[in-house]
Amino acid sequence: MSERPFFVFPKWSDWLTKVFVVSTLIIPIYLVILIAYGCSARTLNVNYAPRQPVPFSHALHAGKLGINCEYCHTDVARAAYAALPPTQTCLNCHSLIASKSRELQAVRNSYGTGKKSLAGMSIPWIKVDDLPDYVYFNHEAHINAGISCLVCHGKVNEMTRVYQAKPFNMAWCLNCHRNPAPFLRPRNQVTNLNWTGKNKVKLANDLGLTVQMLPHNLGKYLMKRYHIPSVKQLTDCETCHR
Ligand code: HEC
Ligand code: HEC
Ligand code: HEC
Ligand code: HEC
Ligand code: HEC
Repeated sequence: MSERPFFVFPKWSDWLTKVFVVSTLIIPIYLVILIAYGCSARTLNVNYAPRQPVPFSHALHAGKLGINCEYCHTDVARAAYAALPPTQTCLNCHSLIASKSRELQAVRNSYGTGKKSLAGMSIPWIKVDDLPDYVYFNHEAHINAGISCLVCHGKVNEMTRVYQAKPFNMAWCLNCHRNPAPFLRPRNQVTNLNWTGKNKVKLANDLGLTVQMLPHNLGKYLMKRYHIPSVKQLTDCETCHR
């Protein structure tokens, strides 16, 4: 006598099993991706390049014309915030150069020689690089430690429109905070985005040393010379979250 099962699933229920198997595979993968993106929303911002009110080109001004970053971002080595230049800085040249250009309309509006209703208002530049408010960042500390704009902003001197070059997430910051030595260079070269340090005579000169005095390990030497804090301190949560 053959035993009859208590209940037999009908044939059509087979697809249910398939759906179940497929979802147990896919849902966790989906969740992992969702969480990874959610926790590092910033990573999505790499290459973010908003259209600005004036088509200002760094490739022209900082690259071809060779204007130093600090001519416009005056506070970068003195304050937490790098600051954008006031309209007056543009007028230092553009009261004479290309003074009638259509591309400079927003500059003239701000300066008071364009639309009267906008006179005296700053040019509404759109922020490109933006950390969440719960993260503390400080330009001065990094510039004085000999870290170039290049490391964090890429080749700005070749950008016709600025874009966010790096992900600015926690892992990216920590990657350097765990071992900053390889990223350091002479302080007076941080705004020189074409610096290589290969020319020994120039390197010695930048450091105020003779070629004979040059250290074998520049990174290690600069860690001491610029009094870089310990890795323990640099990776402490309180350094960036206060
Ligand atoms: C002639 C003035 C001028 C010079 C020189 C200049 N900048 Fe700028 N910079 C600006 C202006 C204006 C903006 C805002 C408009 C824009 O984003 O293009 C800006 C924006 C930026 C931003 C994006 C800021 C944000 O919103 O996150 C970075 C990064 C930057 N500059 C880096 C540099 C670096 C590095 C150099 C030197 C290689 C440099 N700049 C030289 C005027 C200048
Ligand atoms: C040190 C001088 C200098 C400063 C400061 C300067 N520029 Fe210029 N800018 C120039 C020169 C030179 C040109 C090239 C003009 C040309 O090609 O006829 C130029 C070109 C431009 C152009 C293109 C104009 C066109 O019609 O082709 C724009 C837009 C511009 N600058 C915006 C700005 C803004 C905005 C600022 C301030 C943040 C600024 N510039 C500061 C020298 C300067
Ligand atoms: C260690 C990385 C790092 C270095 C080095 C660095 N920056 Fe920044 N920069 C940032 C970050 C991160 C932000 C966004 C800050 C925020 O949103 O609070 C930023 C923002 C800016 C801004 C927008 C205004 C502001 O302060 O938020 C400008 C302009 C700027 N940087 C210019 C420069 C220039 C010029 C240099 C070199 C002299 C430089 N930066 C070096 C990481 C760096
Ligand atoms: C390329 C290396 C490098 C990168 C990238 C970098 N840092 Fe730093 N950071 C340093 C060094 C070196 C110091 C130590 C500076 C000093 O105090 O001499 C430092 C110091 C700091 C400090 C302490 C400043 C103070 O006032 O004492 C903060 C906050 C900080 N970094 C935040 C950040 C954040 C947030 C990021 C990512 C957006 C970041 N850093 C990316 C190298 C780096
Ligand atoms: C060098 C600077 C730095 C240090 C040190 C640091 N963080 Fe962060 N942290 C960041 C930045 C930058 C973000 C923003 C990430 C983003 O926007 O994707 C962040 C984001 C976070 C977040 C939000 C969730 C996330 O992953 O985006 C938490 C939670 C956090 N940090 C906890 C910590 C803890 C705990 C420590 C100490 C073990 C620490 N952080 C040390 C820079 C730092």
